[in-house]
Amino acid sequence: MKIQPARRLRGRVPGLPGDKSITHRAAIISALAAGQTRISNFSTSEDCASTLRCLQQLGVHSERTGNSVLVTGVAAKDAGQSLSFRAAHEALDCGNSGSTIRMLSGVLAGQPFTTTLTGDDSLRSRPMKRIIAPLEMMGARIASEDGRAPLRIEGRHPLAPIRYEMPVASAQVKSCVLLAGLRAEGRTEVIERGAMTRDHTERMLRWFGVNVETRDEENISGNGRDGTESFAVSLEGGARLTARDINVPGDISSSAFLLAAASMLPGSRLEIAGVGLNSTRAELLKALNALGAEVRTVNTREDSNEPVGDIEARGVVRLVPPMRREEAITLRGSFIAGLIDELPVLAVLGTQVEGGLVIRDAKELRVKESDRISTTVENLRAMGAEVEEYDDGLAVGGPVRLRGAHLRAHGDHRIAMAFTVAALAAEGESYLEGAECVGVSFPEFFQLLDSVTER
Ligand code: S3P
Repeated sequence: MKIQPARRLRGRVPGLPGDKSITHRAAIISALAAGQTRISNFSTSEDCASTLRCLQQLGVHSERTGNSVLVTGVAAKDAGQSLSFRAAHEALDCGNSGSTIRMLSGVLAGQPFTTTLTGDDSLRSRPMKRIIAPLEMMGARIASEDGRAPLRIEGRHPLAPIRYEMPVASAQVKSCVLLAGLRAEGRTEVIERGAMTRDHTERMLRWFGVNVETRDEENISGNGRDGTESFAVSLEGGARLTARDINVPGDISSSAFLLAAASMLPGSRLEIAGVGLNSTRAELLKALNALGAEVRTVNTREDSNEPVGDIEARGVVRLVPPMRREEAITLRGSFIAGLIDELPVLAVLGTQVEGGLVIRDAKELRVKESDRISTTVENLRAMGAEVEEYDDGLAVGGPVRLRGAHLRAHGDHRIAMAFTVAALAAEGESYLEGAECVGVSFPEFFQLLDSVTER
């Protein structure tokens, strides 16, 4: 796909497709409930379609009308917690979706049958030991290809409850263990050290009537308090879930590409309505402002137990961090979990910031849909940016004039969108190889971007 530079972005986006993370949870959790749930603004992503298809293979009935999906939960209405999925005849194909395979594994670990889950080449190369370990501690048996999919899960009911301290900051792992915990005998607790990952599962379970408890405490090391916190979340097995309609807010991770483009192009004015503003996801807005962008939220409210609001962004002539420092702005530590999916586009933006941008403590980027550190570095360098690559991040110099270039998505939707944004701000035409993968999270991306782009 050819991409021409743009002058600026102007306009109002009345709504974005539903948040992908929230939609996965809405589909899975409503499938576990008693009764019917209408999910409005269901994500249009291929990933969420994978979740729905896998659930159908497990005997869950759903009906899609446009972006509204009606899910009939498998818990018989008056029969307490008698969840019953049907064993699938064939392997469940999770496509490109890490959330689908990891969260469904948590559900299937507690079912009295065996299921095989698999996915595309990218998904089959991603680490699954992080869910295999806790699910086996709970009593499921999981065969894998050396810790990668396909996963063959021999479920068991009831599972044994665990208190699990997470070795990596991952909302998918946390959600997997909590969903398995619903089928355990007793209380399951997950502990996150240092940073709290997105809490959509906790919020969604509460929306369905489950008593999810949270606690946070300051960590104590040898010399007393060490300035970091731990977050514990727990639930009692056997809880009853009651169906309740859900409106999914617009996807803040999708908004990031439009906001970054508007911030990089002077004279832009963009408004995006109805975006999810959950604080475990909204670090993006803080990061944009810290880099000198002008982004603000208005009309904030709650819907279906999630914060929502409108976002306004203006392009400034030059991005200058409000607190000018000797060294570049650094995103690291507990900040990273809250904007993990936005780091590639923030790295692009970093090339336009006075002093540049450093990203550290983000080793997890190496095991996403692509190795996002190397794919970001490769494309930035192709455009003439000054970049240093670290094991756990990167540093970009700024401001630099990006050059149009041959860019490669590497099958990764967020890389495709981040470098479309870079191409808008570059000098000369770019060519993006593999642009079609944007459908994994945001099929409307190019059309929507075009509708607010002035050339
Ligand atoms: C997600 C969690 C994150 C994120 C992914 C969606 C979720 O992954 O990168 O896009 O919906 O829970 P990890 O849990 O692997 O960090």
